[in-house]
Amino acid sequence: MLPEEAKAIAERQRRCFNELVDVFDRPQPPEVVARLWEIVASAELRAGAVVLDVGTGAGVLIPLIQSYQPSTVLACDVAEKMLQRVQDKYPGVRTYHTDIVLLALASASVDAIFMNGMYGNIADKPAACENAARMLRPGGRLVVSHPEGRAFVDQLRATSDLFVESLPTKEEFEALLEPLGLEVIAYRDEPKLYLMVARKS
Ligand SMILES: C[S@@+](CC[C@H](N)C(=O)[O-])C[C@H]1O[C@@H](n2cnc3c(N)ncnc32)[C@H](O)[C@@H]1O
Repeated sequence: MLPEEAKAIAERQRRCFNELVDVFDRPQPPEVVARLWEIVASAELRAGAVVLDVGTGAGVLIPLIQSYQPSTVLACDVAEKMLQRVQDKYPGVRTYHTDIVLLALASASVDAIFMNGMYGNIADKPAACENAARMLRPGGRLVVSHPEGRAFVDQLRATSDLFVESLPTKEEFEALLEPLGLEVIAYRDEPKLYLMVARKS
């Protein structure tokens, strides 16, 4: 994908998601919350960890991440109204208004990166994964997840104007991530849970 094309998609996402803050800032049903806990557990966070939540939205993952007592929680999003909501609710979180592709954290500075319910929205996935791999410390984990599963994403793709792509198969993720030094260590593609965990070598 050309950089201008990716930029235009990110700008469209910004406008769309800025309108959706209240939709995303709602209590989740208990069965979804249970799957969100599973997603966060898959990163095996240690106390003191540095954690990045990509496409944080209204911050649904943040209280779950904070329960692991990280030293730092970072959140990035292209939609500034989402980030404002995160700042209001979780003032300790450091926010970055940027596409994940352009997030310029120091190399090897992050222990875990979450992309929950947003991977399909990223325009330039190879560049996003390359930047995530760069920011992860050796042994760090990238978690790509959706608590409603693949079919939900495909339904959204068919029925909304948002830029959404289908979630990768295990083989597609392996082909993309292994050259970046990320080994796929878990992959679940279940009716109501999509979860891929990769570890940085
Ligand atoms: C469907 S919401 C999910 C939010 C949250 N992670 C959750 O689980 O509720 C997707 C979010 O990703 C953001 N987003 C989309 N593309 C992005 C990109 N390339 N870089 C950073 N954020 C992005 C959107 O602005 C939106 O807030």
